[in-house]
Amino acid sequence: MANSRKKMKILHTKKSVSALSRSWHRAGETVALVPTMGCLHAGHLSLVALARKKASRVIVSIFVNPTQFGPNEDFARYPRTEKADLKLLREAGADAAFLPTPAEMYGPEGEATVSLSESRLSRTMCGEFRPGHFAGVMQVCLKLFNIAMPDIAVFGEKDAQQLAVLRRMVRDLDVPVKLVGAPLVREADGLALSSRNRYLSAADRERALSLSRALADAEAAWRAGETRPGPVLAKLRRAVSRAADSLDYAVAVDKDTLEPVRSLGPGTLVALAARFGSTRLIDNRIFR
Ligand code: PAJ
Repeated sequence: MANSRKKMKILHTKKSVSALSRSWHRAGETVALVPTMGCLHAGHLSLVALARKKASRVIVSIFVNPTQFGPNEDFARYPRTEKADLKLLREAGADAAFLPTPAEMYGPEGEATVSLSESRLSRTMCGEFRPGHFAGVMQVCLKLFNIAMPDIAVFGEKDAQQLAVLRRMVRDLDVPVKLVGAPLVREADGLALSSRNRYLSAADRERALSLSRALADAEAAWRAGETRPGPVLAKLRRAVSRAADSLDYAVAVDKDTLEPVRSLGPGTLVALAARFGSTRLIDNRIFR
């Protein structure tokens, strides 16, 4: 590369990230942000690769955000693999990694007092089973946007509802950032990559393959001419319920409004969440 890239910067304070972003902007560079909670895998790295294509500088944040976890969720045991993450980010060509502590993000008192309230978009689907989750996601992402001042921010379609909620927040609050969606990355056998996959026993992992299989069957049925959501969802629910310990939901909705569709078509998001042992997994397919 002509202008040799400097070593990846590792930053821990909001101030240092803002200063770096400002200096890049002054130099005429464009800045992309990739927010993550760490325990990075090829799904995250595909976001970094896309960010590098879309902007001249890439900041990746690693922060296990306490405000998006419910009291009975896995915040404490969420995998933290900082050293390995930084190595992967260096190899992926990120320019900076931002690893704040909760106190740096939210102050010594903990949680911020101003928060974003949920709408129908964030109360449906995962929101029904994780009350407050998307309020926490919006809160931390808006803070990260204000801190890093990116031109673009990249999010995975793996978390399709998260992307829809954030797109709506950006639009409703006129946040000056462009959100870019990146395709869902799967293992060779179909399992959607997730930091939570490492919780799965070998037997649970095998059962979890039912998610991607049932979603692939749903899409195949649509491609074969079926446009009624009813029978397609019924079959999907039967298949997943047989394999999983419980099925939280399985829906066919518009990928942007998250309203149930009357007819399957391009832009339909078929999404589900299911539990295997104590692990909750989500997966989806967007019909194109
Ligand atoms: P996390 O689960 O670490 O995911 C970070 C980003 O990686 C998200 O945009 C997610 O959609 C994307 N991602 C995860 N698995 C993926 C896969 N298999 N294929 C493609 N993209 C994938 O999502 C969060 O963290 C947090 O809610 C966050 C946005 C960082 C706010 O705290």
